[in-house]
Amino acid sequence: MAITKQQVINVLKQVIFFAKQNNIVDLNMVDDLVVKEDEISMAVIFPKLADNSVPIVSNSISKTLKAEFGNHILVDITPVAEKDRGLGPLSGVKNIIAVIAGKGGVGKSTVAANLAVALAKAGHSVGILDADIMGPSVPILFGVEGEQPGIIERQGKQYMVPLEKYGVHILSLGFFVKPDQALMWRGSMINNAFNQLMKDAEWGNLDFLVIDMPPGTGDIQLTLGQSYKVRGTVLVTTPQRVATADVRRAALMCRQDKLTIPLLGIVENMAYFVPLDAPDKKYYIFGKGQAMLLAEELNIPILAEIPIVEAISESGDSGNPIALDDSSIIAQTFAQLVTNLQTELNK
Ligand SMILES: Nc1ncnc2c1ncn2[C@@H]1O[C@H](COP(=O)(O)OP(=O)(O)O)[C@@H](O)[C@H]1O
Ligand SMILES: [Mg+2]
Repeated sequence: MAITKQQVINVLKQVIFFAKQNNIVDLNMVDDLVVKEDEISMAVIFPKLADNSVPIVSNSISKTLKAEFGNHILVDITPVAEKDRGLGPLSGVKNIIAVIAGKGGVGKSTVAANLAVALAKAGHSVGILDADIMGPSVPILFGVEGEQPGIIERQGKQYMVPLEKYGVHILSLGFFVKPDQALMWRGSMINNAFNQLMKDAEWGNLDFLVIDMPPGTGDIQLTLGQSYKVRGTVLVTTPQRVATADVRRAALMCRQDKLTIPLLGIVENMAYFVPLDAPDKKYYIFGKGQAMLLAEELNIPILAEIPIVEAISESGDSGNPIALDDSSIIAQTFAQLVTNLQTELNK
C-alpha cells in the first residue's frame, strides 16, 4: 500500500529536537514534505545549520522512517536555516545592517548612532543594538546612560523592551554590564549576551536594525552571520593604512563561504580636516587614497566621507548625535549616507 503523507507525519512525531525538548512536527520544523511511492523528501528547518543537531536529527529521521516503512525507501532531507525562510527571531526586522570596523577608535559607534538617527529622520522605523561589549558607547551617544530598558512578559517568558530616543529603539550590553566586568567574559558568554539582545527583546517591526559590532573579527561576527539574516555591512575606517588593513580583514571574514554577509560599502571617517577659519580648505592630515584602494579591491562603493569636526565628538559626548542638527553640513552628509545605502540595498 502506498505510504501517505499523514502516515509520514505521524512517524516523524517520534523524532525529537532535543534543544527545544519537543518533536520536529510540533515544532513546525518539517516543510515541503513530498511522498512519492517509495520516496520521501522534505525540508527540515533548523535554528542554524552549523550545529550538531543537523546531522543528528537528519539521521534520526531516516532511521525512524526506514524502521517504519522498510529499508528500501529513499529519504531525502534538505536542512534549511530559519533565517533563510524569514522565520525565527527578528522576523519583524526587514534589514539588519551591521556596522563593523577593523579596530577601535575609528568612529564606528559614532557612525552607527548617526546612521540610525538619519534613517529615523528619513521616516524609517529604526533600532540600534550596541554589541560592542568591550566598549559599549551607544548609551552615551544617545544620552541614556544609566537608564534601564523595560521588561514585558509573554507566554511566561520575559522580553526586554528597548529604550526609545530620537525615534530610535535602543539596546546596549552597556545597560547590563560594567565594561570592566565584560573584559573577563568568555567568548561563549559574550555570544549568549548578544543573542539575548537580539532574540529576547521586543524589537517589533523595524525597517532597519543597526548593529554596532565589536571591532575586528570575532565570535559575534560569526554568530551574527550564521544565526541571523544580515542585509549587509557598512565598513568604517579612517584613512590610515593601519586602519584600512584591519578593516580589510574584517571585510574578508564577511565574505567567507561560511558567512557570506554582503558588504554594502565603506564609510571613511575622519577623512579630512576643515579648519573653522577656512571652511573651504580640506586638509588630508591622515593621508588620502587608502579607503579608495580598499573600495576598489573589494569592489564596493565609498558611501560617505566624514570630516574631522569638533562638533561630531562634542555632540556624541553630550548624547545628541550630530545627524539631528539640521543646520549642520554633517547632518546632510549622514542623510546622503542613507540615500547611498538605499541605492546599494536596491541593487
Ligand atoms: N569625524 C569625527 N570628527 C571628530 N571626532 C570624531 C569623529 N568620529 C569619531 N570621533 C570621536 O572619536 C572618538 C572615537 O569614536 P567612536 O565612535 O567611539 O569610535 P569606535 O566606536 O570605533 O571605537 C570619539 O570620541 C568620537 O567622538
Ligand atoms: Mg565604539
